Parts: sequence; structure tokens; C-alpha cells
Amino acid sequence: MKTIAFINMKGGVGKTTSVVEIATILAKEHRKKVLVIDLDPQTNCTFSFIKIEAWDKLKTNATIADVLGMNRGFSTRDKEYEIKDAVLKNVLGIVGLDLIPSHLELTFLDLELGGVAGREQILKKQLDKIKDDYEYVLIDCPPNLTLAPQNALVVSDYIITPVVPEIYPSIGLPLLINRVRSLKRSIPQCNVEFLGVIFTKVKSNTRIHTQQLDAIRKTSVELDVYTFQTIIPETVRISEAAANNKPAYLVNPNADGVESYKNLVKEILLKINENE
Ligand SMILES: Nc1ncnc2c1ncn2[C@@H]1O[C@H](COP(=O)(O)OP(=O)(O)OP(=O)(O)O)[C@@H](O)[C@H]1O
Ligand SMILES: [Mg+2]
Repeated sequence: MKTIAFINMKGGVGKTTSVVEIATILAKEHRKKVLVIDLDPQTNCTFSFIKIEAWDKLKTNATIADVLGMNRGFSTRDKEYEIKDAVLKNVLGIVGLDLIPSHLELTFLDLELGGVAGREQILKKQLDKIKDDYEYVLIDCPPNLTLAPQNALVVSDYIITPVVPEIYPSIGLPLLINRVRSLKRSIPQCNVEFLGVIFTKVKSNTRIHTQQLDAIRKTSVELDVYTFQTIIPETVRISEAAANNKPAYLVNPNADGVESYKNLVKEILLKINENE
């Protein structure tokens, strides 16, 4: 099982979109067994795969909040939660694609678990119980490095960082890399490595994007972080699908943007293979 956390402290860079498309492509085109974990209280990823009515039935006792041990008045502390109770199988009818949905109350995770020993390792302990069931686990993280994403880093083999090639993200990248490295020093169980940066929402016809893309590739070399060759263009196929809470792959597996994600998935699989 390989676990990949999608992380960038900057919001709106395509973390969720990338998790949704890559997970769908891994399951549909590569027949992989995939688990998506939505760690973002914004729940965007969750609602790309299930309807709000379905989530309503699960929200009391079958979300990532339960997995992470939040006591929301429903569970008892004396019995450990079983992660399998929060796994939704074959979402959208896609064989091999499972989901652990998120919960808005995850916003309060840091407050609630502030004093709990080993609080960064709850997800690892839980995921260990089902590690034989999956080939890939993709974790959608919120745009910060609070306790939930820290749990993701502890459990992950790799980080993928989506970046929109504008000026601010290129400044943010060194910051993110340093932050992750210092987290690794403070949590010895954390062995996560950067798999690479993916360029998302790229407007290839604008000078600022092409210039920044080159600049970020250079910075990444200096920082010893790989940048994927495949770039994801900004396209209405993807924004429309997201607006309708659907993976763009399911709307049209051959649309531009989706084709780019398919190439990216091949590149990701190759890169992971090289690392093994
Ligand atoms: N390649 C693309 N082309 C067009 N629109 C895109 C593309 N990728 C993402 N978007 C749109 O950009 C917005 C932000 O994307 P997304 O939600 O994936 O970012 P995020 O990094 O997960 O944001 P957050 O930090 O808030 O979780 C969404 O409206 C999404 O539909
Ligand atoms: Mg998101």
C-alpha cells in the first residue's frame, strides 16, 4: 500500500480536484484498489463522490472525525473506533474506489485533541488495520498544516504538491518544504518524502504562467524536489465537473484536462516504481 498526501498550504490550487481525478483514473483505467480519505472540513472531495443525502446518514458515526477519535457526543472513549465502519465502498459505482468522508467538525480537531498524547499518529494506527485492502491511499488535505494534515504526513509515503504557476505559490514552495522537513524532525515516526510538484490550472498562453512555471522548476531543482513533466491545463471541463460535484473523468474520459490527468497518473506510477 502506498499512501500519498496532497498538500499545499495555499488554497484553491487543485488539491481536491487532483485527488478526485487521480483516484478515479487509478480505479477505472488501472484497476487499482484505491481509498480516498477526505481530511478537509470543507468536504469538497466527499461531495464529488457522494450526495449530501448519503452523507447526512453517515455524519453521526461514519466519517474521518470518528476515525480520528473526536468525541462528538455519539461515541464512547472506552472503545476504539473501527476505521472500516467509516469506509464507503465502490463510490459512484466505481469498483475498487472507496472513500472515508469528511466532516465539518474536523475544524475543531486541534482544540479537541490538543492534550492527547500521540495525536499525530491516530490515522496511522487506524489505517494499519486496513492496509492490506488497498494499493493506493490518496489523502485530500486542507490548505494548512494543522493536526489533520499532520496525521496525513505521519501515515504517508509521499507528498504531492499541486501548484498554480503564479508568483505567490512559488514563494510558498520553499516554505512548505521547510515546514515539512521540520515536522519530520519533531515526529520521528514520519518518513514522508516529496514525490513531486504538479502544475495545475496552467494557462499555457500567458507569459506569467510560462515564466513562473520555469522559475518554479528551477527552484525545485535547488530544493531537491521533483516536478512532474505533465502539466494540467486550466479548462472548463474540469471546473464544470467540479461545479456539478462529479469527477471530470466520468463526464468525459477523453476531455482535455482529463487526458492530462491520465498522463500524470502514468507518470506518478512510474515515479513510485523508480523509488521502490
Ligand atoms: N485544471 C483546472 N481547470 C479549471 N478549473 C480548475 C482546475 N483545477 C481546479 N479547478 C477549479 O479551481 C477551484 C479550486 O480547486 P480545488 O478545490 O481542487 O483546490 P484545492 O487546492 O483543493 O482548494 P482548497 O485549498 O480550498 O481545498 C475549484 O473551483 C476547481 O473546480
Ligand atoms: Mg480542497
